[in-house]
Amino acid sequence: MSTSSPTILITGASGMLGRALHRLLLQETSQTYNVIGIGFSRLTVNHYHEHFGGAPKTVELLQLNLLDVATTEFIERHRPDIIVHCAAQRFPDAFESNIEESIQLNVDSTRHLAKLCRESTSPSRPDYKPLLIYISTSYVFDGGIESKVYPPYMPESKANPINSYGRSKWNGERAIREVMNDATNNVSGGRGIIVRVPLLYGEDCVKLDESPALEMLKVLLPSSTSATKKKIDDWALRFPTSCEDVARVLKLMIDHAFVDNQFSGTYHVASPHGITKFGLLQLQSRLLNISKDEVDDRAEGVDDPKAANPSAAPRPQCTQLNCGDTWAALGKKFEFAPLEEAMGRATQGFPRRFLDAA
Ligand SMILES: NC(=O)c1ccc[n+]([C@@H]2O[C@H](COP(=O)([O-])OP(=O)(O)OC[C@H]3O[C@@H](n4cnc5c(N)ncnc54)[C@H](OP(=O)(O)O)[C@@H]3O)[C@@H](O)[C@H]2O)c1
Repeated sequence: MSTSSPTILITGASGMLGRALHRLLLQETSQTYNVIGIGFSRLTVNHYHEHFGGAPKTVELLQLNLLDVATTEFIERHRPDIIVHCAAQRFPDAFESNIEESIQLNVDSTRHLAKLCRESTSPSRPDYKPLLIYISTSYVFDGGIESKVYPPYMPESKANPINSYGRSKWNGERAIREVMNDATNNVSGGRGIIVRVPLLYGEDCVKLDESPALEMLKVLLPSSTSATKKKIDDWALRFPTSCEDVARVLKLMIDHAFVDNQFSGTYHVASPHGITKFGLLQLQSRLLNISKDEVDDRAEGVDDPKAANPSAAPRPQCTQLNCGDTWAALGKKFEFAPLEEAMGRATQGFPRRFLDAA
């Protein structure tokens, strides 16, 4: 790797999406880019290859607490050409229980990274400002409940987040637009890309809790002995998207950013397959050859989200994203893996694969 190769820095590289992107870039672009993954509490991660069969490769990450003042020095030392900012507190319920720190991570650290990008130049291309790619969420929309703006949403559709997590991600977006459009104090504006994604799942997870698209499978673990049926949301329509697919689109964006130095703005990346959480459980059990009777014994679909989880933060019913602008900007439409296929890989080896971490 030449020292003049562009550097791509991934925050949250120990998380579900960051892992998929880090692995893909190391696997496919290590001759082109210098790739740095950072984690916070997890500094060793397993990267799986070839449809997640075989032994994983253990990869070390650099440690950085994005809430720490050391962030400035870290970024100045590594001088990334592109930062893909995947780190966040993204569990709506965990967010509510630690609001202050969650806002610092989702909003303040995003603003700080945006400023660092705006105020520096790329080491490999002096005419190029480092680009910040920020991962946001379809939860910036309310499904029309208050706004009366209904899905599918375009990037410019009116946002109106209805829970604290969604508001923080929206405020992270606003911070980027504000900083990047600010051309004062002799510093010209910067470059930011906001990528909104729906419910994600990793194909390499070993903890069902890691993805809300997998956690329902806990009712089918042998250790699940509850006498009452688990109520599972059959009301909200999700568009579960594999992190592998999002990583592939992010790679297209990264490559594109080096040929078009005007490339910036807000883009949507989401699989078109809509399904409820209960529908997902039924699909997963079919893929795993678990009988319908067993599923019916252990779980039931409910069309009142509060019945499924009384303490949950409010969520919109449907926030489907229209991705047309993304394919137009990239010059080609990306084909997402069929849900059955990618979910088959994500659940492969159930329950054994998930037992140790259950
Ligand atoms: N997952 C979804 O369904 C979903 C849906 C829509 C949007 N998104 C967005 O997509 C992005 C990626 O989500 P994800 O599912 O990959 O998240 P994730 O699995 O929860 O990972 C979060 C990452 O943030 C890191 N982190 C936490 N606190 C940190 C700190 N103080 N300093 C530095 N890093 C810190 C974690 O590091 P350690 O684990 O090493 O501590 C971890 O790598 C997020 O921006 C999220 O808002 C996710």
